[in-house]
Amino acid sequence: MKLTVVGAGSMGAQIAQQAALHGIEVALHDKDGTQLQRALESNRGHLARRVEKGKLSKQEAEAAVNRVHATTDLGEATDRAAFVIEAVFEDLELKRSIFRELDEVTRADAVLASNSSTMGISKISDVTRRPDRCLNMHFFYPVLVMDLVEIVRGPLTSDETVERATVLAREMARTPVLLNKEIDGFIVNRILHAATQEAYRLLDAGVASFQDIDTAVEKGLNWPMGPFRLGDFSGLDVTYNARLHMYRVTGDERYKPSPQLEAKVRAGKLGRKTGEGWYTY
Ligand SMILES: NC(=O)c1ccc[n+]([C@@H]2O[C@H](COP(=O)([O-])OP(=O)(O)OC[C@H]3O[C@@H](n4cnc5c(N)ncnc54)[C@H](O)[C@@H]3O)[C@@H](O)[C@H]2O)c1
Repeated sequence: MKLTVVGAGSMGAQIAQQAALHGIEVALHDKDGTQLQRALESNRGHLARRVEKGKLSKQEAEAAVNRVHATTDLGEATDRAAFVIEAVFEDLELKRSIFRELDEVTRADAVLASNSSTMGISKISDVTRRPDRCLNMHFFYPVLVMDLVEIVRGPLTSDETVERATVLAREMARTPVLLNKEIDGFIVNRILHAATQEAYRLLDAGVASFQDIDTAVEKGLNWPMGPFRLGDFSGLDVTYNARLHMYRVTGDERYKPSPQLEAKVRAGKLGRKTGEGWYTY
């Protein structure tokens, strides 16, 4: 089987490498040649560290790197591809134009998957002549470490397409879960948002400090990070924008961003990346 990954950013680069680590020949396409080189170097670095730690042999690492064929030519990348995973910027019009192009250049039986975090496939696949062969495959960052893939079927996705995506995820040594319906936030982000929202409600009501809420979640639920520490790790602007998006989409007051979160974002205290968020780094 040949896989094509379109977009060689944080996600696409590692999706390609994860597949290649498990014996799949991958074409990795980006319109930006410099980005492609950066992706290959970054992957080489990740695999070299595994070799140093004795988790991978030098030969295995080299073979996995060599299974990723980088090209800025979409036609070349998709030549004979049975499966395409799109991982370009989170921009609806861009994704629609890529799917339109993929529908033209790929063989008719190829599956077209989107790694979008927020857009159900039905928003994209109607530009193709094969909405039955389109679906979401939502990987998690960093793909080389995070085991889960959310497979989301659109209203027109066929059983066979779901089966092919499931098989591919397993071949890549990733664990698939299936969503039978398109739903905003899929499973993981919905549960994360619900827990985070409750944590902010407790904070805003003065029930406990953010440190104690994190400690309660980490020690009582065994989550590796409490919601405030995780927010700092991902960027508080990301948390804020996700809440605002859910609030606007649903109109549900429960999603309204916390005033304390809003204040952090306005002050530019976005977490690790700015040196300060809830904690100081
Ligand atoms: N970063 C995450 O944590 C994460 C997690 C899950 C899903 N996602 C989703 O994955 C997708 C990619 O996210 P990312 O973080 O890797 O983005 P990114 O910005 O790191 O990379 C996007 C890449 O797409 C390329 N690109 C843009 N237009 C293109 C075109 N016309 N043709 C070919 N390549 C093009 C860019 O050059 C860039 O390299 C988004 O839909 C995002 O929502 C991201």
